[in-house]
Amino acid sequence: MALRYDTPSLMRWNARAYDSSFGYVSAQGTPLIELLDPQPGERILDLGCGTGVLTGEIAARGTTVLGLDGSAAMIEVAVAQHPGLEFMIGDGGNFHLHRPCDAVFSNAALHWMVRDPDAVIRCVRAALNPGGRFVAELGGAGNCAALTSAMLTAWREYGLREPELPWYFPSPAEYATRLEQAGFTVRLLEYFDRPTPLDECPDGAADWVRMFAGSLLDDVPPGTVEPLLRRVNELAAPALRRESGWVADYVRLRFAAVRA
Ligand SMILES: C[S@@+](CC[C@H](N)C(=O)[O-])C[C@H]1O[C@@H](n2cnc3c(N)ncnc32)[C@H](O)[C@@H]1O
Repeated sequence: MALRYDTPSLMRWNARAYDSSFGYVSAQGTPLIELLDPQPGERILDLGCGTGVLTGEIAARGTTVLGLDGSAAMIEVAVAQHPGLEFMIGDGGNFHLHRPCDAVFSNAALHWMVRDPDAVIRCVRAALNPGGRFVAELGGAGNCAALTSAMLTAWREYGLREPELPWYFPSPAEYATRLEQAGFTVRLLEYFDRPTPLDECPDGAADWVRMFAGSLLDDVPPGTVEPLLRRVNELAAPALRRESGWVADYVRLRFAAVRA
């Protein structure tokens, strides 16, 4: 699948740490592959494929799959781990496939494409054959609310400028409206809590912030970073630390839509 793309704005990912400590993100994507129900011979785009774990699972169903991601670090690991598969660096809000595909799949990535969610949906529609499927899961309204509220409070307590959170967590109604307005028929839409153990994150909420909001730490004076993150942990602990360990308050939006 040839692709025209522009690289998205700077995103910094520690792809190795993503797989070793946050492997739950792709592990939790397996039910989404069942919803996609990939058929042998289909052409499928994995949008925001990260290190390609789910891209590989979709390919194993006999499909031709292309992984697209905005992060060169993620794509580098994806290529190394799945040498037989095709991966490209590209922007979910500004890409074009020269040959359309049968389905677009996306796990835990659409909420990162904050600049223009409608542009992302338009690109997906243009990438699909008529009747093609758009099957995805993203953070929904209220996702990680205890985590982000601890962050905002800690930033405020340290006299730091309120950080601009890098995510878009829509309500089901809002996202369904965007899909319909772009020419999709929504066949299924689920909105559910998914408490997620942070088993590989000994430093709990602080580890989560380092991975998923690391760019916000760039604006924090170096000597303040560790005390700030300790404070995030203190503030988040009552809601998120259990006897068994830390559990993040994920809320998911999962949908299957068809290009009308
Ligand atoms: C949490 S990871 C999910 C990766 C993978 N889908 C998985 O399930 O493990 C989010 C991914 O979205 C990618 N991403 C964020 N914004 C993007 C954009 N505008 N265009 C393409 N990819 C983007 C990131 O680089 C990252 O790899």
